[in-house]
Amino acid sequence: MPDLCNISFPGSDFASITLEFNKNLSEHLTIQNSPVLFGCRTGICGTCLIKIIGNIPPPEADEQEMLETLAPNNPYARLACQVHVTGNVEICRMEG
Ligand code: FES
Repeated sequence: MPDLCNISFPGSDFASITLEFNKNLSEHLTIQNSPVLFGCRTGICGTCLIKIIGNIPPPEADEQEMLETLAPNNPYARLACQVHVTGNVEICRMEG
């Protein structure tokens, strides 16, 4: 279990950042340090839809339901506001 998780944004101009294990992305990503935009931060607006590759827990039922609407059949799609990082991840924005 890593103490620190590396968050990188391939394909963007943003540098990688480091978060402590199990931190929620929406509490630490800002317009200054990441390409991810947030709206509601509660998993209902879909603004924060991302493609994420790395070791993170699977979505809860509510998030899964949203993902099936916003990005059906994309196993890497997640709502950034619902993600806790538990390993190194790569994040790209997705257009909803
Ligand atoms: S910010 Fe609204 S779903 Fe994540």
